Amino acid sequence: MKILLIGANGQLGSDLVREQEQYLSGAEISTLRRADLDVTSFEAMTAVLARSEFDILINCTSYTRVDDAEAHASEAVRVNAQAPVRMASACRAKGVRFVHVSTDYVFDGQISRPYVEADSPAPLNVYGASKFLGETLVRHEYAQGSLIMRVASLFGAAGASGKGGNFVETILRIAKEKGEVRVVTDAHMSPTGTLDAARVILSLIRSGAAPGMYHVVNSGEATWYEFAQEIIRRAGLPARVIPITSKEFAAAAVRPCYSVLNNQKAQAITGRIPSWEDALARYLKSKGHMA
Ligand SMILES: NC(=O)c1ccc[n+]([C@@H]2O[C@H](COP(=O)([O-])OP(=O)(O)OC[C@H]3O[C@@H](n4cnc5c(N)ncnc54)[C@H](OP(=O)(O)O)[C@@H]3O)[C@@H](O)[C@H]2O)c1
Repeated sequence: MKILLIGANGQLGSDLVREQEQYLSGAEISTLRRADLDVTSFEAMTAVLARSEFDILINCTSYTRVDDAEAHASEAVRVNAQAPVRMASACRAKGVRFVHVSTDYVFDGQISRPYVEADSPAPLNVYGASKFLGETLVRHEYAQGSLIMRVASLFGAAGASGKGGNFVETILRIAKEKGEVRVVTDAHMSPTGTLDAARVILSLIRSGAAPGMYHVVNSGEATWYEFAQEIIRRAGLPARVIPITSKEFAAAAVRPCYSVLNNQKAQAITGRIPSWEDALARYLKSKGHMA
């Protein structure tokens, strides 16, 4: 099996590269970074994909800066929707699988149970809208060969290249610098380690999972405040975590107050997905942050 991975140096992409050999032994992986291919150079990308040989294309590229996207909608749409639909088209022409990654921010949070794949998106911000457009166009172009993996609130060893780090590292840095950290308590989500997300995605590929939508998140849920408390507690830092509201935080982009994803569909295929607390403990240990 030949895999082509675009966005290989991102937070999720780098863990897919790292885990691929163990989860898809015998597969051959080729990687492309932005320096090799700008996915918004549509003609160049189409040409590269047409001449490359692969059985599966995995797209880990994304415009991920949620707040910046508010003022850069066309750039977000180019990366998150116009590029993926062309990737889907290239995969359709070759008759190969396309694995695309999306987000919990396609939802508006007006619900009181974890979102299942069949729930209707209604994004609240430009980033979410661009990702939803990407999902929609990919499904329209190549539903019969595309697997869309919705992930959420990622933390991984590489740190999100688009955001220059991740929530865990930001909390640790502020806690060490200031002795206290203010975190929103009115947004519930699914904290997810990229290592586990990568493993689930690779397991779904290995199992020959049917095309369609999959929620790929660690089990459990938390508010950002609870997530921060657990980070500080496990790192053994003497810092205070102060609850604030999203209104007080005043980010440029509105976020859903509830975007927990139900991962039962993926778990039924891959087996139990670890809790976010477990993923966090392994992450902190691997980075030398444990108390
Ligand atoms: N991070 C989160 O908390 C989160 C939450 C929900 C969903 N997701 C989704 O999960 C996926 C992976 O996210 P991540 O955290 O791994 O993001 P990331 O670290 O920011 O990685 C994004 C990748 O896209 C590449 N990229 C961006 N624009 C490009 C372009 N025009 N041409 C080529 N490459 C380009 C980046 O390259 P450079 O390094 O050169 O910029 C980087 O390799 C994305 O689909 C994202 O929407 C993430």
